[in-house]
Amino acid sequence: MLKKIDPRQTRAWEALGAHYPEARQLHLRTLFEQDPERFSRFSIRFGDILVDYSKNIITAETLRLLMQLAEETGVPEAVADMFAGAPINETEGRAVLHTALRNRENRPVVVDGKDVMPEVNGVLAKMASFSEKIFSGEWRGYTGKRITDIVNIGIGGSDLGPVMVTECLKPYAREGLSVHFVSNVDGTHIAETLKGLNPETVLFMIASKTFTTQETMTNAFTARGWFLERTGTRDAVSRHFVAISTNVAAVTDFGIHQENMFGFWDWVGGRYSLWSAIGLSIACYVGYERFVELLEGAFEMDRHFKAVPLGENIPVILAMIGVWYTNFFGARSEVILPYDQYMHRFPAYFQQGNMESNGKSVDRNGRPVDYATGPVIWGEPGTNGQHAFYQLIHQGTQMIPADFLAPAVSHNPVGDHHAILLSNFFAQTEALMNGKTPAEVTAELTAAGMSDNEIERIRPHKVFTGNRPTNSILFRKLTPRVLGSLIAMYEHKIFVQGVVWNIFSFDQWGVELGKQLARKILPELTEDRVVTVHDSSTNGLINAFKAMRRG
Ligand code: F6P
Repeated sequence: MLKKIDPRQTRAWEALGAHYPEARQLHLRTLFEQDPERFSRFSIRFGDILVDYSKNIITAETLRLLMQLAEETGVPEAVADMFAGAPINETEGRAVLHTALRNRENRPVVVDGKDVMPEVNGVLAKMASFSEKIFSGEWRGYTGKRITDIVNIGIGGSDLGPVMVTECLKPYAREGLSVHFVSNVDGTHIAETLKGLNPETVLFMIASKTFTTQETMTNAFTARGWFLERTGTRDAVSRHFVAISTNVAAVTDFGIHQENMFGFWDWVGGRYSLWSAIGLSIACYVGYERFVELLEGAFEMDRHFKAVPLGENIPVILAMIGVWYTNFFGARSEVILPYDQYMHRFPAYFQQGNMESNGKSVDRNGRPVDYATGPVIWGEPGTNGQHAFYQLIHQGTQMIPADFLAPAVSHNPVGDHHAILLSNFFAQTEALMNGKTPAEVTAELTAAGMSDNEIERIRPHKVFTGNRPTNSILFRKLTPRVLGSLIAMYEHKIFVQGVVWNIFSFDQWGVELGKQLARKILPELTEDRVVTVHDSSTNGLINAFKAMRRG
């Protein structure tokens, strides 16, 4: 069981509150001028990954107090509990064991008196053999042709992980196999995906932990209908549909034979499930060996997270710096900026990872919190973002802590593209930190020949306050191993923050209400009579929709 400590009642929180007025006056520019060793003091090398957190508004004292806060709120015990399989997902009565899925040393992990590793290894072996059969062509469609296209049908955690990872690992894709992802219940998504696909060579993976999710099941039935219409044979379904789920009964009802089902367990949260059979599309796309490298990278980060003292622990440091900005500086969002086109879905992936986990306002004692918890997570790849929303990060009224991620080596060394890309990465973090003073603006405009009057008028708009915090996460190359470590790093960051905020990070009741109401509203959309049971806006909208549809 996790401790249930109100973080504001800790000595560290009080001390951080007292430290804040002084810290708020600090400027990153000055901190770097005063300490030539700041980079080496505040950066950590982890294999092929370098995490530089020196461009944050922190001192050694800030970090000491933040680590004290982690200690007082029970982070070390919580980490041990999670890895040990304690039922820390209390509101659902479950363990939280995505780490067991990548437990490459295979140490026993016991849940309810049973070691889960033999089952984990069993599913991995089944994934290995299946992905190999697809690749080698041993697995054939109903007319004897090999599979050329995989369509993963899932949503949320059963979609975003595989989408993000297959995009990131495109350079490792094996010849002859394409992957497609259908998540949205908007018919456009499946209709557009199915266009051009051949039922003889397509394999559908129905990925749903519960196998009851409305969007996924609707898309799955549409896919099956499309398939049967074209093939006219039910027997062919078993060659073209597999399921990834914890729900054997629902999978069987759908018509998928148990031998074509890849199981996982209720101790794997949806948004933490890409390491499980939910990653089957990844294993097929890049090969099982690459999938294992992804697991190994995550495992290496797990070992670091578990063993290294708080003050040198990458996920803990990132988490606590985030707490510092959220709870003391009042930051309300964090931006993730990968300078790597392959990582274009990485921010979206952690939008779910973070916001579904820490978007909570009731603490572990069941009381409303009166401090901020999970920030809004957003982001796009650089340099695109620079020409879109960076203006607000540089000169807007909000502080938006930013994570910059980039590989030193590109998979596509085209001309000087990568040097240009990285020069922007370095320039942005430097600019956000230093800003531009009025004196610098004046000197620049004078040199450009501008009159004093003009300079006076334009100067305020050209000044950058700077002091905008960033983490720089530089890695050698975007390999499966590095990617695994990066994902695990963010997962653990989210976990630590949830522990400190005294919330439950592994349930997601907040998505239920909308689902329930949609189920109630669905039949109203086809009834002839005017709808009157809701508020005037909802009634008005539903009735207008029906009228518009009638034409
Ligand atoms: O609606 C939220 C959610 O429950 C996510 O947490 C989950 O990843 C997603 O729906 C999909 O659920 P399932 O895998 O059961 O279809």
